Amino acid sequence: MNTPYYIIRKRILDEGIEKLKAALNKHWSYSVIGYSFKTNALPWIIEYMRHNGCYAEVVSEDEYELAEYMGYEHIIYNGPVKGIESFTRACQRGHIVNLDAEREVEWLQHMNLISMKEPVKVGIRINFDLEAVCPGEASGGEEGGRFGFSYENGDFGRILDKLRAMPGVEVAGIHLHCSSKTRSLNIYEAIAKMACRIHKEYKIELTYLDVGGGYFGGLADKPQYEDYLCLMTGILKEEYDPKRTMLIMEPGTSLICPPVEYVTSVIDVKDTNRNRFIVTDGSRIHIDPLMTKKSYFYQLEKTDNDDEREFLEKQVISGFTCMENDRLFNLKGSYALRVGDKIRYYKIGAYTMCLSPLFISYFPAVYLEEEGKIVCIREKWGVEEYVQKSKIKRKNV
Ligand SMILES: Cc1ncc(COP(=O)(O)O)c(C=O)c1O
Repeated sequence: MNTPYYIIRKRILDEGIEKLKAALNKHWSYSVIGYSFKTNALPWIIEYMRHNGCYAEVVSEDEYELAEYMGYEHIIYNGPVKGIESFTRACQRGHIVNLDAEREVEWLQHMNLISMKEPVKVGIRINFDLEAVCPGEASGGEEGGRFGFSYENGDFGRILDKLRAMPGVEVAGIHLHCSSKTRSLNIYEAIAKMACRIHKEYKIELTYLDVGGGYFGGLADKPQYEDYLCLMTGILKEEYDPKRTMLIMEPGTSLICPPVEYVTSVIDVKDTNRNRFIVTDGSRIHIDPLMTKKSYFYQLEKTDNDDEREFLEKQVISGFTCMENDRLFNLKGSYALRVGDKIRYYKIGAYTMCLSPLFISYFPAVYLEEEGKIVCIREKWGVEEYVQKSKIKRKNV
């Protein structure tokens, strides 16, 4: 197996989804898991999630079409920029469509709803001031979140009234996903309380309640699905009937971050007057494309059995790209790395493969390990894949 490559550990993936299903069964059995495509839509992964009974949670026309292509019978269509064609199709097919913008309400007005046998059921994404209830935790910070209809300024109420007055439309659900910096339990307490408030204030009977994604997964010292659900459902039960309202969760990171590893090799060792640089064939663009991570879970793997290697205070682990900041981490207080050694990064399956650019080198191969057997589930991309769809013909020299 040539490095760099990704490898998915099937057992860890299975354990994650089993834990989530068990927690849902215990706390709110009338529930659905909508796998967040955006977090990692590698075709093998989305096939796996479908096979495990997940709905597809998509946020663009391309993702919607991918879900249909992959045979998903159940789709949750979110996002601020949906396509009109896929929006119409999703409404007609009875998928879960959570409205995020006024123009989607206008699309509904122009659809021929009267001719349809069943009313179109839609959900409304709610924008509420999470930062006010969880200071320092909301992703939008002091600037506030930008998705959905604002509860505080009355937009949510206005849109609800508008939809209620539209023949052929039924408001079936609310969507409360909030991105946070902390993934803390406070966030989900705030979401559950807001869901209750909406029910009380607007007196709507909901078919579903979508609490979104954003959970921790696979970390023993962080909240577990069990904790999130115990807290949320305890609050929700005050206003909602667990037998009549379906609970939707939209996990991405918590399911797909833990089982994925990335393996790289040391290609060169270079000394300057300031540092020792360890040049690897991996890159930050494959495991931290947004260049925000401060540390990684990793393991060094020696190419030989030499126990006498020199000890070094600092080695700068660097990537293959020509960007100066393609430095993965400073290896402190370790034996000296050598050409051929490997560095294996763990828990890197979320917002990595799907956000990597085709920069300098093309997508690495992806393998699956199941009970010790390893198979390739996506070959490395080469020039053929890179030039596909270009109006250029191959010129063999
Ligand atoms: C609407 C929605 N649902 C689910 C998710 C998945 O979040 P995570 O990958 O943190 O679980 C996101 C991510 O931003 C999202 O925007």
